[in-house]
Parts: sequence; C-alpha cells; structure tokens
Amino acid sequence: MHSRTSFFILSILYRFHILLAQNYDEWPLQKNQSFPTRSSPIEIFTNEANFIRTPTPLTFYVDYSENDELINTGSAVEVHTKHTSETHVTGGVLYDDTYIYSKCRFYWNNDIQGDTRLRINGDGKPLEVQLIFYNNKYNNFTDALGYPDGLLVTSILVDVGPNENLDFNEFGNHLDEIEKSNTKINITSSTVFKWFDIFSVIENYFAYPGDYGGCSCATSIVCIARYNRPYISERQFTKFQNLKNADGGILENLEEPHGRHGRPIVYSNTAQEIQIS
Ligand SMILES: *[C@@H]1O[C@H](CO)[C@@H](O)[C@H](O)[C@H]1NC(C)=O
Ligand SMILES: *[C@@H]1O[C@H](CO)[C@@H](O)[C@H](O)[C@H]1NC(C)=O
Ligand SMILES: *[C@@H]1O[C@H](CO)[C@@H](O)[C@H](O)[C@H]1NC(C)=O
Repeated sequence: MHSRTSFFILSILYRFHILLAQNYDEWPLQKNQSFPTRSSPIEIFTNEANFIRTPTPLTFYVDYSENDELINTGSAVEVHTKHTSETHVTGGVLYDDTYIYSKCRFYWNNDIQGDTRLRINGDGKPLEVQLIFYNNKYNNFTDALGYPDGLLVTSILVDVGPNENLDFNEFGNHLDEIEKSNTKINITSSTVFKWFDIFSVIENYFAYPGDYGGCSCATSIVCIARYNRPYISERQFTKFQNLKNADGGILENLEEPHGRHGRPIVYSNTAQEIQIS
C-alpha cells in the first residue's frame, strides 16, 4: 500500500527533464544505432527519462472484430492473430512508422504482492499485458524480426485488487478452457482487448530501445495508465494462477529486469485509441 501511494505521488510531482536541443538526436533513434545490450524488460527510473514532445500523439487504431487464437504454450499464454490484423499503431515516438498488431502475451507473478518484469521507480504490478507489433514496411512478423526497427512491444501494467472488472469475465472463462498446457481456442479480439485499455486519451508512456527474444530488433514502448489503470480482482486473477505448464505444474513467467546499459528512455504524455470496427 505504502509503495503504491508513493508511486502516485512521485509520478505526479516528478519534474521531467525537457529534452534539450543538443541531445535531441537521442530520439528518434537512428534505425541502425547499436547498443551494447538491448535486453528488455528494464526497471525505469523516471528521473532518467527525457520528456519528449512528439508532433502527433501515439495512436492505436483497434479492430475489435477479429478472430484470433488464445494459446497456453506450456511456458506462456499468448493470443495470436490468424490473419494480417487491421489493428495498428502510429505517431508519437514512432513518428511516421506504422506497426501492425501480431500477438499478445501475458506475464504474471502468482504472488499478487509481487511484480512482473517491468518496474517503474521500484514499483511493479502482478500482471503485465504485452502487445507485439511489426513494422508494416516488412512483409510479416518473421520477416520483421531481422531488422532493428522491425518490432514494437507495448506493455500495460494491470493492478490486482478488491474490485471485479466485469469486462474481464468472458476472457477469464476462456482461460479456464486453456488450463492445460498445449491447448488453444478461438477468441475474438474484443474479448481480449475490452478488459484493459489499450490506450485512451492523455496517458503517459515511456519508450526505450529493447529487444525481443534475444534479437536486437525492437523499439519497446512501456506504458503506464495513470488515471484509469486497468485492474482485475483477486478472484479473477486466480484464472491465471490455475494455468498449468508443460509438466502439469504451475505456470508462471517471472524474470528480473535487465540493466539499462546507457540506453535512452523517453517520456511522453499523449496517446489515444481509435476504434476502427
Ligand atoms: C547507420 O546508417 C547511416 C546512414 O544510413 C550510416 O552513415 C552509418 O554509418 C550507419 N551506422 C552504423 C553503426 O551502421
Ligand atoms: C514472410 O515474408 C517472407 C518474405 O516475403 C516470405 O518469404 C515468408 O514466406 C513469409 N512468411 C510467412 C509466414 O508468411
Ligand atoms: C477455430 O477456427 C477455425 C477457423 O479459423 C476452425 O477451423 C476451427 O474449427 C475453430 N476451432 C474451434 C475449436 O472452434
């Protein structure tokens, strides 16, 4: 409780640095800029982030009508699109680049007092929703994996607390159906997206160069929903806690944050979601 309170105070009162003209080159990143390591996720300290004013807000165009697959892989829970998705994101720290939605992954800590992999000023959440997109200048996700500007990863941290999120229940029932490892079911994108905000107007986000599964190929965007942070109840969270891994044990995917290693972090504060279907 104490750490959450101090997090809010910190995030409201913290005076972010204005990005100075002489280090503006730090962002957008040169597409081929190399870093000694780009491992994600990291722990973000807001006093290390430079505020950036982008020409347009980061904008998510979301199609709620698509048919996807929800999968328990035995080591993760993922949603995969079956066809090229209409859901995409552009603007903000992406400038003119457009990234097409490809998959969604869930990371959680079965201890609801614990954190997932991402932390901000020492504070994490037990559940993280990660959306993975690929740059539309490449043919498909696999093709995009090979390029420094190939992928975009966005993370949304979800609170677990006393209140039920009614929009979660349909998704929660589907989690029951994939309790066993190596099972998958059909699911619509609305069932996946509707219980957390992808984004809505005036949110705050951090961005830094990250990676995906060890390849040096992702621009990572880390998101915090400050005013309408998504949440589910402890009862609803048991749907994740009941999932089984490949050995029939408890599925969980914990990882410690990686080092920042001199990578730039920027902070911006306008993002929005536009429903396209
Ligand atoms: C990145 O690309 C620019 C121009 O496209 C080139 O001048 C520069 O040498 C490249 N840097 C690296 C590290 O490859
Ligand atoms: C992805 O694009 C590449 C290059 O066009 C192509 O060779 C490959 O078959 C495509 N992969 C899939 C899964 O469509
Ligand atoms: C899932 O959808 C595919 C078509 O995309 C269909 O062939 C398959 O039978 C469906 N599976 C279930 C369990 O409904």
